[in-house]
Amino acid sequence: MHKHICSLTSDVAAYLAEDLGVEISVSTMACPLPEQGDVALNVAFAAEKVLRTTPMRTTPMRIAEKIASHLNAFDYVAVATACYPGFVNILFSDEALKLALGAVQSDPNHGIAQADSPETIILDFGGPNIKPMHVGHMRSLFLGEALRRILISLGHRVTSDIHFGDWGMPSGIILEELKHRMPDLPWFDSKQSEYPEYPPISPSEIADLYPSGSAACKEDLARKMQAKETTVRLQEGDPALTDLWEKVSGACKKDILQVCEQLGAHFDLTLGEADAHKDIPEVLELFAAAGASTEEEGDTIVDVRLPEDKYDVPPVFLSKEDGSTLYATTDIATVLARVRDFNPDRILYVVDERQALHFLQIKRAVGMIPAWDNLVIEHVGFGTVNGSDGKPFKTRDGNVMPLTSLLDVVATTALERLNDTPPDDAEELSSMIATAALRIADLSTHRQSGYSLDVDKAVSFEGRTGPYLLYSVVRMRKLLDQQTDADVSAICFDVPIMRELCNHILNFGSAVHSSAAASAPHLLVNWSFECAAALNRFYATCPVSTETDTRLKSSRIALASVAVQTLEHALVLLGCQIPKKM
Ligand code: ARG
Repeated sequence: MHKHICSLTSDVAAYLAEDLGVEISVSTMACPLPEQGDVALNVAFAAEKVLRTTPMRTTPMRIAEKIASHLNAFDYVAVATACYPGFVNILFSDEALKLALGAVQSDPNHGIAQADSPETIILDFGGPNIKPMHVGHMRSLFLGEALRRILISLGHRVTSDIHFGDWGMPSGIILEELKHRMPDLPWFDSKQSEYPEYPPISPSEIADLYPSGSAACKEDLARKMQAKETTVRLQEGDPALTDLWEKVSGACKKDILQVCEQLGAHFDLTLGEADAHKDIPEVLELFAAAGASTEEEGDTIVDVRLPEDKYDVPPVFLSKEDGSTLYATTDIATVLARVRDFNPDRILYVVDERQALHFLQIKRAVGMIPAWDNLVIEHVGFGTVNGSDGKPFKTRDGNVMPLTSLLDVVATTALERLNDTPPDDAEELSSMIATAALRIADLSTHRQSGYSLDVDKAVSFEGRTGPYLLYSVVRMRKLLDQQTDADVSAICFDVPIMRELCNHILNFGSAVHSSAAASAPHLLVNWSFECAAALNRFYATCPVSTETDTRLKSSRIALASVAVQTLEHALVLLGCQIPKKM
């Protein structure tokens, strides 16, 4: 039968359904004995369970034998063997492997099967407030950007939004601090209605407004009350405060977006909580009309508890008696705007795990609105970036480290390791290496666990690091640059590492799918490290430029070129920029 390797799982599923009447999903795993198989199946165990209570009752081993003998009739299988107590090891034919590699090589999607039903997805990540970003923001940016690229690679329609925290009490604190420092600004003079282009304040002063203002509010109750009053006046649309806030927050956003760009995070939308404000009245109407909200002592609340809750899930406050609106309200109003503008199937929020309860409340509240029935709300939570002491990462003097300072520290460390590079290139290169170092250090742990950031380790060219991955690609590219011919039909799997490398390449698509399904880019990072390790072993054992046997040489060039093309694409999906040389 002429079929392609990638039909293996569906062929086995069809066989189980037709021959044994078992409807079951089939997936492959790596074969523990590489010389006996390129992949293995463990589906016989699950099939045995299904049959256990029927007259067809049998052993896993017997089912494995049936599967193996069925598969041996396929062209793409060289040999399938049942293995006690019920595994099936499958060795593909060389021809089939080459065909599959050729398909990856010529596929614009690099062998990533496109989603059966592409979704419209809003990806909410970054979420910085109006102050300089710190180390804690790094995870959302790296995870969010990797997910954005991964989801797009599957054919989904993705719109990213940074969702600035530019509303609420911090705005009042910032404006009040500004008034304290510069009471003569025309915005604070009620007789004026024309305002200058910009308040005379430097970016670093702006950066300092929130920390100082918030410290002042903690010490001085009167200041806190003023800040609260300013917040309410701003939210009610006071023209002078609105103008000033737009200018101050606008400047801060510009700086933030520059750092995002430096880190390779792309935002289609740069909206924020403030943009959601105009939709709040409609949210209140919607919840009232659905009978989902109640008035209690002037507050409008939504009870989102469920009988099965094991802990207390507090109600969502849509509005407070004093007229102020809250974080949850802006999030729900943002849902309303997103449904109106994009009609998404899913909204993903890449936000610190510590906000899990908030997103549970949002998800439940959104679920109460009939018009939003088909909308899926998903919190993609993550743990903290810690220092070597296991506590959230701080500077030497115990303060939260601004993200730009961290980038500088890492780039300087990377620069020190680049002693052979001409100074002109070194700066750009060290910044590329630094971002890849941080990105991979960050993305290689499961998002829900925190991790300790060790800068020295992260910039090392050895171990599970970003620079190691970049170097693996750059070195291989350099070797292949002088070669033109990359015809996969020339491949002969004369040494085991070639087959192993080939199998890694063919697993790429499924690694991307698993990463997307669990919103877990670390799975793609794992794949990348395995592929790079195989590629480097191949590099060490199969010389290319010095090989005199032209047949072997073409074979190696072809395999190396598909491998490096696939690995490079994996790194791009993770968000990396790949230097031309290193
Ligand atoms: N600005 C928020 C914070 O610093 C994070 C925003 C996350 N996104 C969202 N849609 N709530 O806590």
